[in-house]
Amino acid sequence: MMHDYEKLGSFYLGRLFDAEQGKTVDDLLLYDARDLTTHAVCVGMTGSGKTGLCVSLLEEAAIDGIPSIVIDPKGDMGNLLLSFPDLAPADFAPWIEPQDADRKGLTMTQLAEQTALSWKEGLAAWHQPTERIARLKSAAEFSIYTPGSEGGKPLSILRSFNAPSAETVADTTLFRDYVLAAVSGLLALAGITADPIRSREHILLSTILDYHWRLGQDLDIPALIHEVQKPPFSKVGVFDLDSFYPANERMSLAMALNNLIASPGFSVWAQGESLDIQRLLYTPEGRPRVAVLSIAHLADSERMFFVTILLNAVMAWMRKQSGTSSLRAILYMDEIFGFFRRQRILPQSNRCSLC
Ligand SMILES: Nc1ncnc2c1ncn2[C@@H]1O[C@H](COP(=O)(O)OP(=O)(O)OP(=O)(O)O)[C@@H](O)[C@H]1O
Ligand SMILES: [Mg+2]
Repeated sequence: MMHDYEKLGSFYLGRLFDAEQGKTVDDLLLYDARDLTTHAVCVGMTGSGKTGLCVSLLEEAAIDGIPSIVIDPKGDMGNLLLSFPDLAPADFAPWIEPQDADRKGLTMTQLAEQTALSWKEGLAAWHQPTERIARLKSAAEFSIYTPGSEGGKPLSILRSFNAPSAETVADTTLFRDYVLAAVSGLLALAGITADPIRSREHILLSTILDYHWRLGQDLDIPALIHEVQKPPFSKVGVFDLDSFYPANERMSLAMALNNLIASPGFSVWAQGESLDIQRLLYTPEGRPRVAVLSIAHLADSERMFFVTILLNAVMAWMRKQSGTSSLRAILYMDEIFGFFRRQRILPQSNRCSLC
């Protein structure tokens, strides 16, 4: 028999909870995927189950063939890759702690068997038989990327200084945002806090990228460093370049960018497949993917750099898609709170965590 929750576009998230009776009832909680065609935020106390709920949601989407890009700043989303269709003791064995087995007076093997059985029974009681887990596993390709590290699949970000598509350049607002985000990300990575509108660093780098990208020319960081010293234009706005930003001061900016590429570990940013949203969402054969982008290992400035460049690429990808009333792909970010400017969102005393 096909359950209601197997209808396409209907995400099975659990059963309803009757607050008066204080228990769950038999009615299924089915979430309409179309509600996610815009934005959603999951808010709750820390440890209340936000990430768990969203993992279920992403799994339900994958079962329906909807791909996701999952930004994981905390390292909680790797669970998406842990699905065991056989629910066999051997699947659980690597996660069994010897102390737990000792405490329960069991051998490691016995505890693995007991754990496997309790998962099997628990999941079956919630309409999740092993066949459904097998369906999830075969519905999508699950991978973990680790930009800036070789721990998982590396993802090259620096090739994103390649010129964006002609469509992006032709869309004035998108192109301006694209340039702005690329420069903000780069300056954050170099540890330069610069005002995007007023700072000379930002204006100079934006003008250089704008100049080359309009001509369809790619620019890597060494080329950009060269251009900072000898830009391909002699005026910025109405000012002469040298009055706006004297050559010796431009040299300091060039040095800061040079220190960045000379720093150990930087070369990893240039390794791996280049950032391509279509490729993160679908395999070359067109199979949906769930791409977890793990950034827990990065320093704050590197995370900001990565997320900025990624969102930029997602925006450019999105603008190329035709309109749709059904959910096509999910961009999920766990622990988004650290990426907001706190004082503008909530007073410190009212802080709650997001996802
Ligand atoms: N529906 C649920 N039923 C029982 N346990 C759950 C449920 N959802 C999550 N949990 C468990 O509760 C714990 C915290 O869950 P989770 O990490 O999802 O919370 P969170 O709200 O994302 O927390 P944080 O704000 O710290 O990120 C985990 O051990 C998880 O396994
Ligand atoms: Mg969480």
